[in-house]
Amino acid sequence: MIKESKLLDLDEIERVTLSHYENNAESFWQGTRDHDVSQNITAFLKALPKDKALDILDFGCGPGRDIYTFKSLGHKPVGLDGSERFCQMAEQYSGCAVLHQQFLKLELEENSFDGIFANASMFHIPSNELPRVLEQMHRSLRVGGILFSSNPRGNTEGWQGERYGHYMEIESSQRFLEQSGYKIVNHYYRPEGKPREQQPWLAIVSEAQ
Ligand SMILES: C[S@@+](CC[C@H](N)C(=O)[O-])C[C@H]1O[C@@H](n2cnc3c(N)ncnc32)[C@H](O)[C@@H]1O
Repeated sequence: MIKESKLLDLDEIERVTLSHYENNAESFWQGTRDHDVSQNITAFLKALPKDKALDILDFGCGPGRDIYTFKSLGHKPVGLDGSERFCQMAEQYSGCAVLHQQFLKLELEENSFDGIFANASMFHIPSNELPRVLEQMHRSLRVGGILFSSNPRGNTEGWQGERYGHYMEIESSQRFLEQSGYKIVNHYYRPEGKPREQQPWLAIVSEAQ
């Protein structure tokens, strides 16, 4: 893969990537509904206040597996996804509101979330747009708000089939996060308990400064 985001039309990146999810919505749900992401949910909630129902944005929520979990734990999650079908599925499955928004055209209310949970979603944001999106997310967080992200790791950017992805290791992730006003609280690799070469996922908990 080459670093090609600057050469590509951003509308095209979102349109083609989202069409992939939209056209494979049912099989995506069947393939991921039982994924165990409890390690990520625990790491995210551990960094947040324990004594209140939290306003949580599930960024790129897909069909709603994790919004359902947050609601079951007594929190007040809201989903966000660019796939209309996923928004419908997530609303139906969780009973929570889901915003139909694209990552590159966000319209988020300022100071409205205690935490943003972005499980397997932010890698779809091209590198040249990432600072702008991270800053918008920052503005939607309350003081001391937490951003959780988990992404496939690497040092490449470009198309993989019908989906556009930007893959980073901890060093570049840290640079992007710090430049946009976040401080990393914790990071780890997944799946748990495997040698590093068998851990393709990088999870990061960071705090809005
Ligand atoms: C790999 S899925 C992860 C879904 C869910 N968070 C999970 O853990 O199962 C990526 C999600 O990001 C959404 N997505 C990808 N690009 C997007 C964009 N540009 N705007 C909004 N949503 C997008 C997809 O529709 C999909 O729901």
